[in-house]
Amino acid sequence: MLDFEFYSPTKIFFGKNAENKTSHAITWAGGSRVLLVCGGASAKKSGLFGRIEAQLKEEGIVFDSIGGVKPNPLLSLAREGVRKAVDFKADMVLAIGGGSVIDTAKAIAIGAANPDEDIWDVFWLGKKIPLKALPVGVILTISAAGSETSSSAVLTNDDTRMKSGINADVNRPKFAIMNPELTYTLPQQQIRNGIADIMMHTLDRYFTAALGNDFTDAVAEALLRTVIRNGPVMLKTPDNYKAASEIMWCGSVSHNHLTGLGGISDFSVHQLSMPLSGVFDMAHGAALTAVWGDWAKYVMNSNPGRFARLGREVFGDAASYSAVEDAALSSIEHMVAFFESIGMPTNFSSLGLGVVSDEILRDLAERCSYNRGRVVGNFRPIDHDDMYEIYKMANR
Ligand code: NZQ
Ligand code: ZN
Repeated sequence: MLDFEFYSPTKIFFGKNAENKTSHAITWAGGSRVLLVCGGASAKKSGLFGRIEAQLKEEGIVFDSIGGVKPNPLLSLAREGVRKAVDFKADMVLAIGGGSVIDTAKAIAIGAANPDEDIWDVFWLGKKIPLKALPVGVILTISAAGSETSSSAVLTNDDTRMKSGINADVNRPKFAIMNPELTYTLPQQQIRNGIADIMMHTLDRYFTAALGNDFTDAVAEALLRTVIRNGPVMLKTPDNYKAASEIMWCGSVSHNHLTGLGGISDFSVHQLSMPLSGVFDMAHGAALTAVWGDWAKYVMNSNPGRFARLGREVFGDAASYSAVEDAALSSIEHMVAFFESIGMPTNFSSLGLGVVSDEILRDLAERCSYNRGRVVGNFRPIDHDDMYEIYKMANR
């Protein structure tokens, strides 16, 4: 087990009607002037946003709001939110929504606490790690990104279409209100995307060069089994409280780093997905499953035993294989078949891109490698040429 630091300071309010505790949570976290952040329409349509407004008014908590956050959230709206938070003298930012809204709230919280620094130029381009931010609270409406407990925040630059994330302790929300019933209104496609993303946060940690972490592996495998069992139930019956609860809690645990302790996060598949979402505005979960199978085949020989273990422990594959490579391939096929069974894309065509030109493949590899300036992953580090080959394999 490698040395690690584990910091997961988010207070969770989980369960039916948990959103009724919003004012209490805000006061607990020291907020009194709150900027509410929400997405396009869903929180207003469901009545959630109105109920929160009414609750805050009743409790005398002053607030302003900014809406219109889109999936693959844009830098321009985050910058607008920073200006609003500063003018309003907000002392807390409350996200009502999913990963896109939460990440915008995190960016606003960083910008408002560092008003002399541009969030993109200084923090997203990596010149500095943000050390201060306004406290962020979350009312979660979709189980997916895990941003409600994670240290990450991901934005897309409107001008360059570069999508990228930053990691910082200050990004961990102070509290997250998690009522699985709030996810009952999700469209099927968003439930699918969420299931995929939740699994991928654990898979991108499971395939690591630092192995031998029994407890971490067991947690990771249990999480994957739980999502594989409950995801299809939630798709069939979105108002099944048991399934929605399991998926919601797995979403948080999958990305608060518990499933990767003692290893080194790989996150190659996430990095491969970023240009697909940035350039083509593809949903995050879909961009992930579209490349996972080909990434897996490409890197498999670095440690086929690891893939074989996934097949055994997660899919209960008890077949005896004459070679470990066959067991690994079978495991990859199990995972790809699961993604297909829930209607997720597993190549560029099913992602909706068709077969793209070589010029596009090269542009994707340039973007993913930051113009050949970085190598990602550690299970099998991949550079620009590897990225190009993986995109090429998925281009069918
Ligand atoms: O905008 P509205 O109308 O609210 O609709 C949203 C949006 O269209 C809808 N939705 C959310 N809750 C709903 C609902 N519709 C009906 N009923 C509800 N209860 O769902 C759509 C997708 O929302 P979004 O917030 O984009 O989803 P998700 O949570 O999947 O977030 C994706 C974003 O998070 C980033 C992704 O890259 C992507 O930009 N990620 C953030 C991470 C982090 N901060 O730790 C980690 C992830 O790996 C990921 O990169
Ligand atoms: Zn993700």
